[in-house]
Parts: sequence; C-alpha cells; structure tokens
Amino acid sequence: MLKLENVSKIYVVGGKPFYALRDVSLEIGDGEMVAVRGRSGAGKSTLLHILGALDTFERGDYWMDDVHVNELNSRQLAKIRNRKIGFVLQDFSLINHKTALYNVKAPMLFNNVPYRQMKSKAMQALCEMHMESQAKKDVVNMSGGQRQRVAIARAIVNDTPIILADEPTGNLDSSTAAEIMEIFKKLNGEGKTVVIVTHDDAVASYCHRTITISDGKIIE
Ligand SMILES: Nc1ncnc2c1ncn2[C@@H]1O[C@H](COP(=O)(O)OP(=O)(O)OP(=O)(O)O)[C@@H](O)[C@H]1O
Ligand SMILES: [Mg+2]
Repeated sequence: MLKLENVSKIYVVGGKPFYALRDVSLEIGDGEMVAVRGRSGAGKSTLLHILGALDTFERGDYWMDDVHVNELNSRQLAKIRNRKIGFVLQDFSLINHKTALYNVKAPMLFNNVPYRQMKSKAMQALCEMHMESQAKKDVVNMSGGQRQRVAIARAIVNDTPIILADEPTGNLDSSTAAEIMEIFKKLNGEGKTVVIVTHDDAVASYCHRTITISDGKIIE
C-alpha cells in the first residue's frame, strides 16, 4: 500500500514558494490500477516521482507499506526503489545508442545480479514484450511503440510489485497505445500495482480509478 498524508512539494521560484503539490493525501492499495490525470503543469509527474521515491517533499508523510519513507536516507531510498518500483518515465529515458538488451539490463547493474542471470532475466523481460528479436538493436533505431516496449521491459525486469508510468502512450498512435495498455492490464492482472499518468480517456478507461490533479491539488 502507498499512502501520502498531506504531502506538499514546494519549489522556491523568484524568492517565493511555489506548491507543485499542496496537501495531497492519497491511498493506493496493492493490486490497484490507477490513472492520474490533469492539465500540463498540474503536478502529475511530481506526484509520480514522489510515489516512486525518486523525489523528496517538504511537508507531509509518505508510507510505503509499513516503511515511513520520510525517514530514509538516500541509500535506503535507492534500495526501496530498486526492490519495489519499476518506472516508465515520460521521455522513456532509455540510453539511445545502446541495445535493447543493454537498456533492460541497466536496473540490475546496481543489484549485484550475476552477469549471466542478468542477461537471461533481461531476455525474459524482452520476450514478455515480444521484443526478443530486437534485443541486439540500438533503441535509437526503433519505433516509438518498440521503444516503449523496451522501457516497460526495463520496468519489469527486477520484478517489482509496483509499476509507475508517466504518459506511457503519449507519443503513440491509438492502436499501439491500446497494445501497450493491454500489457499494463496483464501486469496488473498478475498482481502488480500500476499507476499511470495520462491525458487520454482511452488509457484511463483501463484503470479502476482516476485521480485528477489541478494546480497541485487532488480535486477528485
Ligand atoms: N525544478 C522545478 N523548479 C520549479 N518548478 C518546478 C520544477 N519542476 C516542476 N516545477 C513546476 O511544478 C509544476 C508541476 O510540474 P509537473 O512536471 O509535475 O507537471 P505535469 O502535470 O507532469 O505536467 P505535464 O503534463 O506537462 O507533464 C509545474 O508548474 C512545473 O513548472
Ligand atoms: Mg509530466
């Protein structure tokens, strides 16, 4: 379970506080599939980064199961991220001039996984995304949908219980977007908690619940 209590993320802009998130309270249960919606600049990515312990916050409390995330140092944060969270970030954040296989192996480099096991786990994740034939191809030479599949393979390779995805279908045509959403649905069906930031009604319709943010506040 992920639980935010009165969380605020405050930037100082021109000497004044700017609330990217203001008093956000939110609970996401294990195995839920949740959409996060709102206009550009509303705070969706900020929320996702805080949920993923990628970003800190100035006020409030965050509980990940029984762990009080506020109290963790940066090493402990990295550890809990690795163990619990798979990310599909807004810009894919793949290493373009490296192969799909290299990209999917990347999260394991920090996990002391033996090399051969790293390769077989990465190949297995690529297989699940039907990308095994593209393993040796550089991602720069792939289509948007293929790159997104590599990004999802990377997000699932550590077999974390939570997947956080920021606009995973943002740059895709509607039929490729539907394929990607079927993948998230399947991962959710396997028990993973899935949180997806999206602008798209079709994407939100795959989710059990929608959280809408406006100016850093949850409005629904
Ligand atoms: N480093 C920063 N310094 C100051 N303000 C920031 C910083 N990062 C984000 N913001 C502001 O916080 C607000 C929320 O940003 P965020 O990236 O969460 O929006 P978003 O809802 O994901 O938008 P989009 O749909 O365009 O991706 C925006 O007004 C943004 O300008
Ligand atoms: Mg964003």
